[in-house]
Amino acid sequence: MTEDKELRIPQHVAIILDGNGRWAKAKGMPRSYGHIKGCDNLEKISDVAIEIGIKYLTVYAFSTENWKRSKEEIDGLMKLFRQYLKKCKKMADKNHMRVTVLGDPRAFDEDIQESIREIEEYSAKYDEHFFQIALNYGSRDEIKRAVNHIADDVRAGKITGEITEDMISSYLDTAGIPDPDLLIRTSGEQRLSNYLLWQLAYTEFVFMDVAWPDFHKEELMEAIRQYNKRDRRYGGVK
Ligand code: FPP
Repeated sequence: MTEDKELRIPQHVAIILDGNGRWAKAKGMPRSYGHIKGCDNLEKISDVAIEIGIKYLTVYAFSTENWKRSKEEIDGLMKLFRQYLKKCKKMADKNHMRVTVLGDPRAFDEDIQESIREIEEYSAKYDEHFFQIALNYGSRDEIKRAVNHIADDVRAGKITGEITEDMISSYLDTAGIPDPDLLIRTSGEQRLSNYLLWQLAYTEFVFMDVAWPDFHKEELMEAIRQYNKRDRRYGGVK
């Protein structure tokens, strides 16, 4: 087995934070308790990611479909997002980290939208580490917004020639961010759930049985070990 010190660390890791609800239920606790513990774990894992040299970390915290959850669960998540976004300034300073929110913020209450604008503007000065939080994010929605924006720019005469792949990438919420090298989904589900469909075209996928609140440094290293065993081809011949 490869020694951990010889492991290639992926530049960009994307994670689907799944399993908070089932984790809490198994403990006889409400789902919102699982999200609280999931949020604590996110703080820890983002520190670990920096410690081991991951430059870009992108997490899926709330999808466009998640609005269908109960009011109680959504209220609990909104409370967590409010608290977390406030803490993000300190995290950005500590880790020299630029924070960006992917997704359409317009569905959130005005104070949350304001916190998103604030942390994005405040942390724009950092370029050592990059942390993307997907909130009210859905990949099809992102692509739809990008296509509409491109159409507007064509009508306005800002785009005249052919529409290229690079141009499409530059209209997505992830503009300027390299595509993920490794995608991890916790809690045993093996699907993308509308996450980064364009950006994951050549990404290695690792699905882990552990629920998100139990995903610690050891589990992250295990995912990276699995990534190291893959023979990345990008569709070409080696
Ligand atoms: C999906 O698993 C997870 C979510 C809908 C929420 C993820 C949120 C967090 C980890 C905490 C907050 C994050 C931030 C950025 C503050 P699930 O809980 O639906 O799990 P289940 O599949 O077991 O029901």
